[in-house]
Amino acid sequence: MGTGYGYGKVILFGEHFVVYGLPAIVSALANRTTAVLERTAGPGFEVLDNRPATPGYKTEKFAEQSASLDLMFSFMGIDPRKTPFRITLAGDLVAASGVGASAASCAAIARAMSQGFDLALSDEKINEIAYEGEKGYHGTPSGIDNTAAVYGGVLLFRRNLEGGPPSFAPIPLQQSFEIVEGDTGVTASTKEVVGDVRRIKEEQPGFFQGVLREYERLVVEAARAIADSELEKLGALMTGNMDLLRKVRVSSEALETLIDIAMASGALGAKLTGTGRGGLMVALTPGKRLQEKVALAIDKAGFRAFPATIGPRA
Ligand code: MEV
Repeated sequence: MGTGYGYGKVILFGEHFVVYGLPAIVSALANRTTAVLERTAGPGFEVLDNRPATPGYKTEKFAEQSASLDLMFSFMGIDPRKTPFRITLAGDLVAASGVGASAASCAAIARAMSQGFDLALSDEKINEIAYEGEKGYHGTPSGIDNTAAVYGGVLLFRRNLEGGPPSFAPIPLQQSFEIVEGDTGVTASTKEVVGDVRRIKEEQPGFFQGVLREYERLVVEAARAIADSELEKLGALMTGNMDLLRKVRVSSEALETLIDIAMASGALGAKLTGTGRGGLMVALTPGKRLQEKVALAIDKAGFRAFPATIGPRA
């Protein structure tokens, strides 16, 4: 038997731009997906997916999950026809578009397999396998989600465009701060949305480079604001990041509604997080009182709210 886990994540800065080699800031969530691997008589493998999830998420992602599992098994050189097993997924991370649910499950499965097959793999290797699994969900993952899922904490992440391992470093935090995520309930396909952004890059290269340059200035300031706990500034930078995401057309009506609700309730800043076109909104809501107020306003409007804390060690 083997067990494993992977953290959920919230991208604070840089979704989509990270695909093109720009730095992004991600925080792991305390919520995790867990995996248990049991050897069986077979034939082959089966997956029991007991994760809590947004309605429709599992069906929407089923084909991608199958592709992801095949990629991980073959990368690890494990043939389920020869060594049959069952994987049971569970945990307290609600699988929804935007929380890094696919990466969390890939990390959890890689860890469970490492233990179940006595491979004693390092975190670096687990991250490589989880990255391979992420390719099943979309063709060109930056690796930010699986890195957050494997290592936890708040990270400044940069993809290696040459194909080598990414670079990432923890951002030291002086104090924790509260956020609220709001769920549009819409499951977006990362593959499709990343493809649409790529089309803008190809069809309007000058415009796209301009957006990237603006973003690059913004993320440098954001890393400083996080490390220095300058929350007002951080909120304004999140809102600025959202403006750039609108320019590459990854927002949606429901996301804009959630952003408006959060800002009207006193959030210091708000943006989409993850893929966009649905999925999640993240609002900066320092202090339990503001966090509750924003979460309540989101609930009242008929969306699900997930309060969370970004901590020195999330
Ligand atoms: C998805 O959580 C984040 C994206 O930037 C895709 C990626 O980084 O692979 C949209």
